[in-house]
Amino acid sequence: MHIITPLPGVFRPRSDTWLLADVVRQQDGLRDAEVLELGTGSGAIAVSAAKGGARRVTVVDVSRRALATAWLNARINGVRVVPRHGDLFAPVSEQRFDIVVSNPPYLPSGRIPTRGASRAWEGGAGGRSILERICSDVSQHLNPGGTVLLVHSSVNDVSRTLEALEDAGLRGDVIARERGSVGPLLAERMPDLEEEEIYVVRGRLR
Ligand SMILES: C[S@@+](CC[C@H](N)C(=O)[O-])C[C@H]1O[C@@H](n2cnc3c(N)ncnc32)[C@H](O)[C@@H]1O
Repeated sequence: MHIITPLPGVFRPRSDTWLLADVVRQQDGLRDAEVLELGTGSGAIAVSAAKGGARRVTVVDVSRRALATAWLNARINGVRVVPRHGDLFAPVSEQRFDIVVSNPPYLPSGRIPTRGASRAWEGGAGGRSILERICSDVSQHLNPGGTVLLVHSSVNDVSRTLEALEDAGLRGDVIARERGSVGPLLAERMPDLEEEEIYVVRGRLR
């Protein structure tokens, strides 16, 4: 897979991107699935889903540059994505999917910005603002037996994500994890933290 990020302000894929892209590619039921990616950035995860045989991959982002980049990366890799501009589920409010995936902004921050490149990483209190919104709304956008796959860090408290999924009627579990050194933005905010773990959490509709 070849992914480029020629436009300024579009999130460059990192280890969390590739971890989720690999998990999605290996996901049971991906072949012929209707897939939604929330916050697509460069489109790397969406392209991975499309190359793994998804029937259609819809990608949502608040950044039009991200959507253009995802469209371009899909073309470069010989697949297609359907771009939709807007806030999380708003542009697909009437639609349901078999698999919903997201690497949301999850850096703990004082507030969620309304514009600029930092929308890609600022996650509000505990880094959980966008995560919580996805967990609470996702069941209304899943087909029976549908799955959500979310990636985030140990600083966001994975047990709260599992609880939020349970509260929304999904069975949650951690299906992949990777330990690594703390990235520069998190290190600035949490200078005492030496390591973080990245989790892929799966929620399945009960
Ligand atoms: C951490 S980046 C992940 C990008 C890409 N999926 C990846 O893993 O490399 C988060 C993305 O979510 C987008 N985003 C932030 N808030 C959003 C919202 N409320 N609705 C839709 N997209 C959002 C950002 O513009 C950014 O592209």
